Amino acid sequence: MASGNPLGASTIPVGLSSAPFLSELREWLPTNDEFVRPLVALATLGEDGYPDVRHVLLSEFSEEGFFFHTDSRSRKVAELARAPRASFTIAWPEFGRQLSVTGDTEMLTSDAAAHVFAKRSPYLQVLAHLNDSAFAQQALDDRLSHWAAFTAAHATGTLSPPETWAGILLRPRRVTLWHGRPDTASRRTEHTREADGTWSTAILPG
Ligand SMILES: Cc1cc2nc3c(=O)[nH]c(=O)nc-3n(C[C@H](O)[C@H](O)[C@H](O)COP(=O)(O)O)c2cc1C
Repeated sequence: MASGNPLGASTIPVGLSSAPFLSELREWLPTNDEFVRPLVALATLGEDGYPDVRHVLLSEFSEEGFFFHTDSRSRKVAELARAPRASFTIAWPEFGRQLSVTGDTEMLTSDAAAHVFAKRSPYLQVLAHLNDSAFAQQALDDRLSHWAAFTAAHATGTLSPPETWAGILLRPRRVTLWHGRPDTASRRTEHTREADGTWSTAILPG
């Protein structure tokens, strides 16, 4: 459950439970227990007004929306605190597929974010602990020795999430599925969540 979510006060569905494209999303995305996570380009609104984009792993996907995990000191988290809106996109050209999602974001509570840390690889768990600004400034020899010392001091599977481990929920308001074909023109189905929580669909050229 996300923090600050007024769901209890509203009967308007803000998730994907009634979305007409939910089964298609389930077909396109791996289940949450699959180890290899999709890499998506996640865009936020920069404090300078320009878009800001970077790749992140899509940690999970549910009827609530799309989940990402990051460092609470990161620029994206500062940007989302200022403007809680984001887009992401991912393409599978070999399957003629592109998924683009735009919506509103919420930060997860640390309890809600913790279970994903346990599913991350040992490397990414160590990274979440060490990957701060001070570490980045060090010379390579120091970065290698500090990494090795930390890894030696913490057996695989014993690390808890650092305090800076942060989860982001993106609740979609627009979901666009691009369908490419080698034998005719590509086209998109663009789904928009209306004020009453229902989804409207437009067919667009690719
Ligand atoms: C393959 C790959 C996967 C990444 N996965 C994540 C991720 O899941 N979470 C994350 O915060 N950063 C991830 N990063 C690093 C981000 O791209 C980015 O450099 C970092 O989050 C800082 O971004 P910011 O300063 O815009 O917040 C990944 C980078 C690559 C190349």
